[in-house]
Amino acid sequence: MKHLLKLSDLTPEEITGILDLADQLKYEKKNGIPHEHLKGKSLGMIFEKSSTRTRVSFEVGMQELGGYPLFLSSNDLQIGRGEPVQDTARVLSRYLDGIMIRTFAQSEVEDLAKYGSIPIINGLTDYCHPCQVLADLMTIREHKGSFKNLKMCFIGDGNNMANSLMVGAIKMGLSFAIACPKGYEPDADLMKWASENGEFLCTESVEEAAKDADILVTDVWASMGQEAEIAERKKTFEGYQINASLMSLSKADAMVLHCLPAHREEEITAEVFEAHAAEIFDEAENRLHAQKAVLVTLMKD
Ligand code: CP
Ligand code: NVA
Repeated sequence: MKHLLKLSDLTPEEITGILDLADQLKYEKKNGIPHEHLKGKSLGMIFEKSSTRTRVSFEVGMQELGGYPLFLSSNDLQIGRGEPVQDTARVLSRYLDGIMIRTFAQSEVEDLAKYGSIPIINGLTDYCHPCQVLADLMTIREHKGSFKNLKMCFIGDGNNMANSLMVGAIKMGLSFAIACPKGYEPDADLMKWASENGEFLCTESVEEAAKDADILVTDVWASMGQEAEIAERKKTFEGYQINASLMSLSKADAMVLHCLPAHREEEITAEVFEAHAAEIFDEAENRLHAQKAVLVTLMKD
């Protein structure tokens, strides 16, 4: 494994390897056992969109591994003034040992990997959010013990999170159902792959998707970059909400995940959010451990 560009590039064995290492690094951190695997290594973190969790967890994670994180905002970089990503990749490869990038187009992340000569990590694009879903899988395994006989359902927009959850769930043997309005389905090629490789359902009915689910997941109705569509999306997505009545259709011990930030009373009620806060904030914490595992996997000599 040379990069983390999207989950569909990884084998189930590679995903399991990252999750096992993440569990170990979490144990070592909690028990004060040093794990400075990346002493002397530098990670550039390019942000073309806002972030709380991704920025802080990568920055702290890199420090805990003995390395040095650099926060690079596109407001200040020449990339924000039109310097081609092909050139940025070749320049930064001369200074750094790895790059994490959060941006709009998936092609920009793929181009960094193509033209650069160091590991590239996707910290979210419009297409996918692999780091988040590795943390989500880690949290599911922690709470449920294994991935056996589990149904995951996603309620809402077929966005970057839906794409990555669908791939991650199917690769690890979970069944996956998404409920979304017509026209807001996940990526067509990924849906085709999911239906050929596992148990997959895409429906407009939230009830059908949530029936007997072990894990319910949702995300914002309007993602970063879709600010102009907020009003229209609020109307379109009405009813695509995790609430008490939907929870009553799922398994009694169902867990709820949300990558955050959350909009209460839109995609999830405050009541369900607070009832499942323990899982949701474990999920946020696990960003740190899962990403440290990714950094070690890609950057350790
Ligand atoms: N979930 C997530 O990626 O959060 P941030 O946008 O705060 O990084
Ligand atoms: N779908 C959301 C995820 C934020 C972490 C977005 O892209 O804005």
